[in-house]
Amino acid sequence: MCGIIGYVGGNPAVPRLINGLKKLEYRGYDSAGISFFTEVGVVTVKAEGRIANTEALLREKYPDAQSVCGLGHTRWATTGKPSDANAHPHRVGRVTLVHNGIIENYKTLKKECEAAGRVFRSQTDTEVIAALADIVYERRGDPVATLREVAARLEGSFAVTALFDDRENTVYGFRKDSPLIVAETGDGNYFASDYIAVKHLTDVYRFPAEGTVVEVTADGVRYYDREGEAAPPAPIRVTDVNRDDGKGAFPHFMLKEIFDVPDAIRNTCRDRVCEGRPAFDDETLQRLAAAGRIFIVACGTALNAGKLGKVYIEKFARIPVSCELASEFRYFPPLCGANDSFIFISQSGETADTVASMRMIKSQGLYTVALVNTPNSTIAREADGVLYTRAGTETAVASTKAYSAQSALLFLLALGLGMQKKTLTAETAAAFTKNLTKGVPAAIEKILADTEKIKAFSEKYCTAPSCFFLGRGPDFFLAEESSLKLKEISYIHCEAYAAGEIKHGTIALIEKDVPVIAIISGDKIRAKTISNAAEVKARDAKVLTVTDRLVPGEDETADDICVADCPCEELFHICAATFFQLFAYYTAVGRGRDVDKPRNLAKSVTVE
Ligand code: AGP
Ligand code: GLU
Repeated sequence: MCGIIGYVGGNPAVPRLINGLKKLEYRGYDSAGISFFTEVGVVTVKAEGRIANTEALLREKYPDAQSVCGLGHTRWATTGKPSDANAHPHRVGRVTLVHNGIIENYKTLKKECEAAGRVFRSQTDTEVIAALADIVYERRGDPVATLREVAARLEGSFAVTALFDDRENTVYGFRKDSPLIVAETGDGNYFASDYIAVKHLTDVYRFPAEGTVVEVTADGVRYYDREGEAAPPAPIRVTDVNRDDGKGAFPHFMLKEIFDVPDAIRNTCRDRVCEGRPAFDDETLQRLAAAGRIFIVACGTALNAGKLGKVYIEKFARIPVSCELASEFRYFPPLCGANDSFIFISQSGETADTVASMRMIKSQGLYTVALVNTPNSTIAREADGVLYTRAGTETAVASTKAYSAQSALLFLLALGLGMQKKTLTAETAAAFTKNLTKGVPAAIEKILADTEKIKAFSEKYCTAPSCFFLGRGPDFFLAEESSLKLKEISYIHCEAYAAGEIKHGTIALIEKDVPVIAIISGDKIRAKTISNAAEVKARDAKVLTVTDRLVPGEDETADDICVADCPCEELFHICAATFFQLFAYYTAVGRGRDVDKPRNLAKSVTVE
């Protein structure tokens, strides 16, 4: 998802802008560009596709650019297809700017700007911001007043940085909903949409409040609110985020992050276990334990972790839990009571639908807990309570270690809630805690030690254009995550089905050699899922069963059976997730996919 970088200082701006965009490109984008001051004014170089395309144009047009001020953008198209013309920055009159987000009233504003004589060269909503700013600037003559008036006219989400022709070597910025930070470093002063773009320069940054216009020059940074110049926001010191830029010896970030899973779980649980039992801060635990119902709200993989959390919390703490898709929840919220609590799960802490859902709930005075991986992210900052997964930076678009850490933290939280509500004895909680913090990392390390077997399964089962995952209960929730992982990086059409449901229609798609992955754990529903596997096998499907134990006779319903090591059946899904993460990874590599940056996807979906 889109990235912004802005720079002004005593050093060459162009390489710094390009370097900043490259640090942001993991978020996913379809075009890029930069603008910078030169002796002939502000120039813009931009292109569809990778940043390398912009670099090629720079070498051709401005090989010796001496600029010390500019801005850059990686675009994830929302309004207007990916193209050179729709790439940012956009320039209208004397204003050049970039934007993250969606302007919902851009069509109305566009008509107003056209009536004022502005001509548009793109299909984007962003160009409308530039046109409006140029019109207002013509009247006001002051960039800060101009941008404040413009910001007040915009509806939707935005982070904007702008250059004004006659304000040389100065970058302006403002935001609403979309993140934008300011960093003063020894190398110069920066805007960035994500701290990762400047982490190599500083561990301190500031987060401008909505309604503030920020003016950045080489001499410093000034903040303006509606009353005039304002004090800077409190500095944020980034301490425990080990934003690791390197892949180390791994060929892809995704594989490195899968191998990080055991440590991600250890680090996530480390300071939440005391004397062998779960230990959470009182308020969060008490508020959640007192809930009439807990709603877990998230998107994608984060919600798949939340569904395992539902199983754990209902099992150990006997609290009813509902899992809600944030993009649905924000517009069709279920009935909830004053005594209900809400957990918002997010790796990035910036997902637009999850942020909006949380803000809606907070506005109703209900209790919100963020379960996030990125410190100081919007969700982490704004929720009432925060539970951090400590998975470290997750760079690959496909979430792996964050999902595993989220699931582990939810398991531990469920144990803590069970103890709080006395629905779980301290001894039982201690036994499960040991299985989670010791048994699970060890079991996952065993799975990681046998990647050749998993790679062989991926070569055998992922040859068709489709793939089905079956499971019941928590097995089904793991099937959903495994299906998402495989489809989002291999582009195979995958479907996860509640095993008992497949015979109500979808089994019509089963024919010879269609791959079906059956996920089976525990005793309760074992025989049922086995019979569903038999049903698809009877129709010549190619069946791989992934399970927590070998049971005589079950091999007759599968072409292959793979046991995923786990310390107990309740923790099978967290362990087996690593099997499926590797299964997806090797399939995608085998198909020559861009594993870390799959097509059309973004690491953090900061637009609706
Ligand atoms: C998962 O592999 C995907 N990248 C996607 O589903 C992701 O989980 C979803 O967009 C939510 O992101 P978040 O956890 O940062 O909120
Ligand atoms: N809505 C803008 C566009 O489509 C910005 C998208 C983004 O956040 O990258 O150009």
